Amino acid sequence: MGMLADIDKVLISEDQLQARIVELGESLNKTYSDEDRPLLVCILKGAFMFLADLTRALSMRHEVDFMETSSYGARTESSGVVRILLDLERSIEGRHVLIVEDIVDSGRTLNYVTRNLETRNPASIRVCTLLDKPSRRVVDVPVDFVGFEVPDEFVIGYGLDFDEEYRNLPFIGVLKEEIYAKVEEEDTR
Ligand code: IMP
Ligand code: MG
Repeated sequence: MGMLADIDKVLISEDQLQARIVELGESLNKTYSDEDRPLLVCILKGAFMFLADLTRALSMRHEVDFMETSSYGARTESSGVVRILLDLERSIEGRHVLIVEDIVDSGRTLNYVTRNLETRNPASIRVCTLLDKPSRRVVDVPVDFVGFEVPDEFVIGYGLDFDEEYRNLPFIGVLKEEIYAKVEEEDTR
């Protein structure tokens, strides 16, 4: 029934996610002080749920802002072309920026965003990603905080989508083969 029927397996459970986010929060609490007042830059749409839990695991003063980059569409491979669909509300000059990502796959998105933000003269830029798929890296891009390393499988849930669906699942899972096959077939029509 519903979208749970499309799930092949759960890769990271809700409890595992929540426990790890508390640990990430502790690392960030040691890295930044109230005086730093870091700006968390959430990369939409995939990181929205991670940002929501991460921000509540932080004890230092901080702010959040949002940026949206172009995504995959129905396919499970990135095109290599990254576009900014929504930009930050405010200047980051002199600010300590923490980029909050859902997953680093090829590294193209993060590389583009990092370089773009560097031109705006922040005091520092660090990256916190929930998931890292190092086996797929094409562009070498530094990542400071990683929640989990995942194998070379397309994952969904907890903000991550396939064709805009499954973002609401509270865990990270893998879809059944037939779900990709169906959409990719519709795609080539
Ligand atoms: P990259 O530019 O190839 O590193 O891909 C980055 C973006 O692609 C992420 O922010 C995700 O939105 C999306 N993405 C990459 N891998 C996956 C996946 O396994 N599931 C869902 N989205 C993914
Ligand atoms: Mg996406």
